[in-house]
This record gives sequence, C-alpha cells and structure tokens, in this order.
Amino acid sequence: MVSRVIPVQSFDLVLFGATGDLARRKILPSLFHRFQIGQFSEDSRIIGASRSAMTQAEFQTMVADALHMFAQGPDLTEDDIAAFQTMLHYTPIDARGDTGWDELATHLRPDVVRAFYLSVGPSLFPDIAARLRSTGIATPDSRIVLEKPFGHDLASAQALNAALKANFEEQQIYRIDHYLGKETVQNLMALRFANSLFEPLWNASHIDHVQITVAESIGVKGRGEYYDKSGAMRDMVQNHLMQLLCLTAMEPPARFTPNAVRDEKVKVIEALNPVAPDDIARGQYRGPAGEAYRDHANNPNSTTESFIAMKVEVANWRWAGTPFYLRTGKCLRARESEIAVFFRDPPHNIFAADTGASGIKGNVLVIRLQPDEGITLRTTIKDPGPGGMRLTGANLDMTFADSLPEAGRPQDAYERLIMDVIRGNQTLFMRGDEVEAAWAWADPIIAGWSDDRHDIPQLYDPGSSGPEDALLLMHRDGRRWRGIGD
Ligand code: BG6
Repeated sequence: MVSRVIPVQSFDLVLFGATGDLARRKILPSLFHRFQIGQFSEDSRIIGASRSAMTQAEFQTMVADALHMFAQGPDLTEDDIAAFQTMLHYTPIDARGDTGWDELATHLRPDVVRAFYLSVGPSLFPDIAARLRSTGIATPDSRIVLEKPFGHDLASAQALNAALKANFEEQQIYRIDHYLGKETVQNLMALRFANSLFEPLWNASHIDHVQITVAESIGVKGRGEYYDKSGAMRDMVQNHLMQLLCLTAMEPPARFTPNAVRDEKVKVIEALNPVAPDDIARGQYRGPAGEAYRDHANNPNSTTESFIAMKVEVANWRWAGTPFYLRTGKCLRARESEIAVFFRDPPHNIFAADTGASGIKGNVLVIRLQPDEGITLRTTIKDPGPGGMRLTGANLDMTFADSLPEAGRPQDAYERLIMDVIRGNQTLFMRGDEVEAAWAWADPIIAGWSDDRHDIPQLYDPGSSGPEDALLLMHRDGRRWRGIGD
C-alpha cells in the first residue's frame, strides 16, 4: 500500500556485525523491504562495519546474496537489489582496537540521522558504546540500537545499562525486543485502547484467567551452546512473554507516547508476585540419539529447560484473583503464539435445565500472533435446528490477511522497529528500568530451581504439548490449556 508510506528522514545507519547471521537474515532484508516500498529518502546510507576485511563491492555482493536467500516476496527484483546496493558502504573495524574508527568517521555526514545498530554479542556493547563516544562519532542526537540478550540477570543488566548510560542518554538507546515489532502485538494496544467494547470487561471481575502461549516446533540445534546457558526462562519469558503480559495487563496510558506506555508496563512488572517453584513446570525435550535437547546442547547432563509453564499473579486492583498462565517451549507440536483471554461464565444460566451445566461454552478472546495473525472470539450460540434449546460454541473469526487483503505481504517486526529508530520513536523499545524490573522478577525464580527437586526438568516428547507437569499445573486450578496445533 504505497500510498500510506511516509519517507523517513535521511540517515546514516552503521550496522556493526553486518556480516553476521541476524544481519543477513533479518536486518538487511528488512531494510531492503522498507527501501523497496519507498520509505528511504534517496541519499540514505547503510554502512556495514565488522571485523571481516571486505571491500565495498564484496559487501554489496554479500548483501545481494542475503536478499536472495532471506528477503521473501514476489516483488524481489534485480533492479531493486541493484538500487539498494548503491546505498551500501563498508568499513572493516576492530570493535576493541583502534582500526577502522577514523575511516568510519569519514563516512558519516553531519546533517542526517545517525544510528548505530549493534548486531554483535552483548560483551561488545560497552566497548563499542565507549568508542563511539570517545571518537566523537556519536553526536548528542545519534541513536544506538541493541539486540538481546540484554543481560543474563539483574546485576549484568545493570552493568550493561551503566556502561551505555556513561556514553549515551536513555532517549538515545533503543533496546530491541522484536516481539514488540510484530503487527498483532501492536494490535493488542489498538484492540484495547481504540475500542470501547473491551475495557469495561478487562479486569478480574469479568476475566477468569489469561493464557499466553509461544510454542515453537523447532529445537535448539545449531545454537545449543548459547541456549544451554539461557533456557526458556531467560531466552523467552523474561523478555518476549513479559512484553505480551505487560501489554495485556497494563492500565491505559494517558497518551500514546514512549514514556507514558513504558511507565505503564513497568508498573505491571513491579506488581508481579514472586512465583513459587510449585507454580512452575519445566521441561526438556527428549528424542532419538542426536536429536534430544541434550545432544543439541552438546551437554549430556544439562538441566536447562527447553519448555516452561508458569502461573503468574499481577497483584493490583485490576487483576487480583485472575491468574496469567505463561507457556513457551521448543520442539512442540506446532509453531503457534497467542494470547487467550478467558471470560467468566454468565452469573446465572437460564438454559441449565435444557442443556446441563456444560451448555455454556464460555467466551474466549484469542489474539493470534502467529501463524494466521488475527482475532477470534468464541461465543455460545443456539445449536441450529429443531429439538429444543441446545447450545454450542461458535467463533467470530477475523484474520488480518482476509480483512485487509490490500495490506499485502506481512511486515517483519524488524521493518517497523528499524524505521522507528530513524523516526526517533522509542515506544516499541524497552527502557532500561523496564529490563531491570523484568530481571528483578526473574532472578529469584531462577534461583529457586537450584534445589534438587526443582532443578531437573521433566522430559517431554518432541511434537507434544510439553511435559505432564504443565497439564497438572492447570488441572490443579480446575482449568485446561488450549491445545497447541489443534
Ligand atoms: C528469539 C529467541 O528471541 O525469539 C529464540 O532467542 C526464539 O529462541 C525466537 O526462537 C522466536 O521468535 P519468533 O519471532 O520466531 O517467534
């Protein structure tokens, strides 16, 4: 929908780690799509920076190869790729040494937006931030963009924040959680705050519980070494699921401004009760030789969880008495992510004599993040046909692809986020105190696993819905998980 595209200001984007996996898979294809759609002003530039001794021409070829491999879409044309290549520059740089910084400085123009995207391991963040500042390359208006993991625990996140803030102001720092760039995640805010229908019901009086599921069908093969030090709690819950929880539970901000939104999210995190070990189920996928988690992690004694389910309580007036159940894992039956809001049953069932207590199916609002992004509301209706008053469940169903076909190819989360960096809009980025609050909540939970009983994750079969303990966690409360891949 070209008519909706508003070009962003002219920019110089320096991409550290430009030859790495994330850059090739996500960042460069996302930049290309935004360029292709007409969002770049003509003189904008992308400057690759990494250790590899490459010429500009070699970098341009590498990017073209990456686009052929990872930039999907029928509109990928050689002409567009060639035009995009003219925006690409390259400087070999030693992030921890002196080489390359002077050359980088000569590439940058004084009067355009300057953004530094650190697609590198977090151990390099402090050095690069300090260099950018000490060389004068970072101006007071420059932006610095950081990828997760943002710390391993509260202490390391605080140290990272301190190192960044020694060189940049908070309003220059863009901490990426790519879940915030997903269309449906943003839609959660539109659904809640642009409609009057839901807000009166959005509280413990009307909502029985909420289930947030991020299920993945792939395992950790190829990245087991990183993952084994993290586990599902650090890799997914502390960041992505926490963001989904915050957007579902937060109070309406007074304005849609970066700090108003983030203030409300921080209040949710600070309202979370500590989670008792018995309210958590941890699992690890088994499998034939070579395919079990421990083989993928190359650690035969690993006690890291590849699955976690937990019951979380938001202890405030809106939510007291309405638990949030979070669940995420690898090697599950399907790749499926959703937020399911279960409403309470009507206070009195006038159909009980005809249908029995189970006649009412219960309203469930499901916000599907992937696949088939959309929203479904389960309702109870009369079972059509003669023979008395029988009830049955039926869905009001909306997928974005069907409702808005003209929107075309779904935007990758990174496309939105990178353009927001150039626009200078931090709403969809995590603030330093938000990250720290999430670690302050997660740390004691992780520490609680170090006793014998809770340290060993329960094994589950690949292609299942996770370990038995996760089911029991729900059954104990008289509830059931929604099926995965049903
Ligand atoms: C990443 C995690 O942040 O998110 C991965 O490190 C995970 O383990 C990925 O697979 C999931 O993202 P998405 O967008 O595929 O749901």
